[in-house]
Amino acid sequence: MRFGFGDNWIDYLATIDEAKIEASRRRLKQIVNIELKGKSFIDIGCGSGVHSLSAVKEGAIVSSFDFDENSVLAAKKLRSLQNVSNELWQIEKGDVLSKEYLEKYKKSDIVYSWGVLHHTGHMWQAIENAADLVIKNGYLCIAIYNDQGWKSKFWWYVKYIYNSLPQKINKIYAYFLGMFFIFLNILKYTLLLKPMVAIGPLLNYKADRGMNILNDLVDWYGGFPFEYASIDDLEKYLRSKGFEMVNVISTNSLGCNEMLFHKI
Ligand SMILES: C[S@@+](CC[C@H](N)C(=O)[O-])C[C@H]1O[C@@H](n2cnc3c(N)ncnc32)[C@H](O)[C@@H]1O
Repeated sequence: MRFGFGDNWIDYLATIDEAKIEASRRRLKQIVNIELKGKSFIDIGCGSGVHSLSAVKEGAIVSSFDFDENSVLAAKKLRSLQNVSNELWQIEKGDVLSKEYLEKYKKSDIVYSWGVLHHTGHMWQAIENAADLVIKNGYLCIAIYNDQGWKSKFWWYVKYIYNSLPQKINKIYAYFLGMFFIFLNILKYTLLLKPMVAIGPLLNYKADRGMNILNDLVDWYGGFPFEYASIDDLEKYLRSKGFEMVNVISTNSLGCNEMLFHKI
């Protein structure tokens, strides 16, 4: 069972504007806090392509790939809307789980994969394959769903149901559940006399990675296969592969932990 991410990225593209691109660029620099100018940059599971575009704008030479044809179409459309050349930004269909496909890539200065490897169905293999693409002294940036114990198991079922429902109904399911949990969160913080803790991030939504709330709701409720890991487990695993964690943006909730690793 697999969620068709690409349709959602095509929808998202219709809402993109310069403010969202700028937000994505700021956020990229927050986690990949190294100089990108002239560096080779692979974006695994590029989705809409907005973060690849941010890397191009920072001066990197980018190769993006995604498993979903519609993600590839969305990223190519963004590249053409932004008048970026194929030399600076290559985009194609590819699978991070296919070692045969990955053989075509030279090892790269930066390998970036945000919110992807946990959706492949074989997360640890996907992490290993992504790590293998990093050159010595290069960097691996990954964002992986936080392991929340029983809550993560609950979300697995919620997503499983989304993907079992007929198309069209599943979007209604996502919007309905999304609004319900947002309402519960606002209620919780209003009772704690801190409503802005819940309302603030909603008002400021596009400032975070330049995303769009409705597309993110569908992405969250639909995103399947779904795996997760703690920062500790990821750090331990990547240390055994010769990487050192040099930057992290963590969450104690249901989102992703973002990590930057340096290959020593
Ligand atoms: C949640 S989206 C994240 C998109 C983008 N990285 C971002 O941060 O906006 C996950 C993306 O991973 C892609 N994906 C899933 N499995 C993949 C695989 N095995 N190889 C490459 N891409 C994959 C999906 O098609 C989807 O576009």
